[in-house]
Amino acid sequence: MSDDRKQLPRVDLPPDVRLDTLAVREGLPPSAWGENSEALFLTSSFVHPDAATAAARFANEEEAFVYSRFSNPTVTMMERRLAALEGTQACIATSSGMSAIGLIVLGLLKSGDHIVCSRSVFGSTIKLLGGEFARFGVQTTFVSQTDAAEWRDAMQPNTKLLLAESPTNPLTDVCDIASLAQIARAAGALLAVDNCFCSPALQKPAALGADLINHSGTKYLDGQGRVIAGAVCGSQALIDEKLVPMMRSLGMSLSPFNAWVVLKGLETLSIRMRAHCERALELARWLETQPQVSRVHYPGLESHPQHALAMAQQSGQGGAVVSFTLGGADADGARRRAFHVIDSTRICSITANLGDTKTTITHPSSTSHGRLTETQRLAAGIDQGLVRVAVGLDDVEDIKADLLRGLAAL
Ligand SMILES: Cc1ncc(COP(=O)(O)O)c(C=O)c1O
Repeated sequence: MSDDRKQLPRVDLPPDVRLDTLAVREGLPPSAWGENSEALFLTSSFVHPDAATAAARFANEEEAFVYSRFSNPTVTMMERRLAALEGTQACIATSSGMSAIGLIVLGLLKSGDHIVCSRSVFGSTIKLLGGEFARFGVQTTFVSQTDAAEWRDAMQPNTKLLLAESPTNPLTDVCDIASLAQIARAAGALLAVDNCFCSPALQKPAALGADLINHSGTKYLDGQGRVIAGAVCGSQALIDEKLVPMMRSLGMSLSPFNAWVVLKGLETLSIRMRAHCERALELARWLETQPQVSRVHYPGLESHPQHALAMAQQSGQGGAVVSFTLGGADADGARRRAFHVIDSTRICSITANLGDTKTTITHPSSTSHGRLTETQRLAAGIDQGLVRVAVGLDDVEDIKADLLRGLAAL
């Protein structure tokens, strides 16, 4: 299949078109009907003219789509478009952001291998690496998100993968991707970066030296809270030789329908991200002036510890996620205050998802990071007073008023 995927025809575009054009046009050529909006190929399998052709296609001797667990035209279009945006040769779509991480580990590592990962990444990633994969003999050392020396010190002769996420969910800590890429390269390991929070509209980890970029397409790539999706971008060799065979065996493929939704989402990614970031910066600045708020976590603020790095790494943008801490209480009191602010909103959607046009609000300690132990949570810096807002495309003045309702009553 791998060679087939390379040989499939491309959309006929001049070689030097820019990113915004690729975002709306990269994919496969239209079908015989000449549709302008990309077709949705909702089919599980593809028909062969005769048995000999089927045999040749199954043996990878002839280029064709065979079965949608392996590949599908709509999924291929989405993969090509995302690879173009990330600046990588190839991409493989997965059923979710978590299965993208699972595919990287299962495709590249074996029992006895070792991973280094930040201790402040998304809660399910910590669970997957520290729990599930540890059971299969792949051990992970969790280190500081921001101290590259800790990553270097954690390297072992059997370290095969460094897994970073920047900015992190929910504290928006930023790691230096180029430094981590150097550490990985010096040790003959690979660096994978979860680019979920920034998307390629803001941050291109491949240009900073990352080998693989993983996504939860559920977030900004879809951008409208409709589907669960994921993807891994990287070199043609890594994707075709290591990840495609594992995908064919395990079947964590993305459904054509979900791929089509993400494909169309990518067309508006860059203008959506600009609008999200503008609103998020405005909200973060306002939150800093609220007396009940002890700390605002947002890379776009000058007060953020890695502000300069974030601005250099993220096209001068802070992203769309703003977290804030309600101070002045013990753990139980902080939780009550956080719940009060969340429950006083009438516009924000109380949900742990992010990357939606609708602004979402959540209490990370009891939702996205609720499956972690208290020790893991505190190691990740997530306390009971923390509230995360993923700023959507609502009018930011309405979001301020929504939060003020709860804050003013504390
Ligand atoms: C940074 C990050 N990575 C991965 C995931 C997992 O994505 P999915 O829910 O699509 O499996 C999430 C989900 O919130 C996330 O925030």
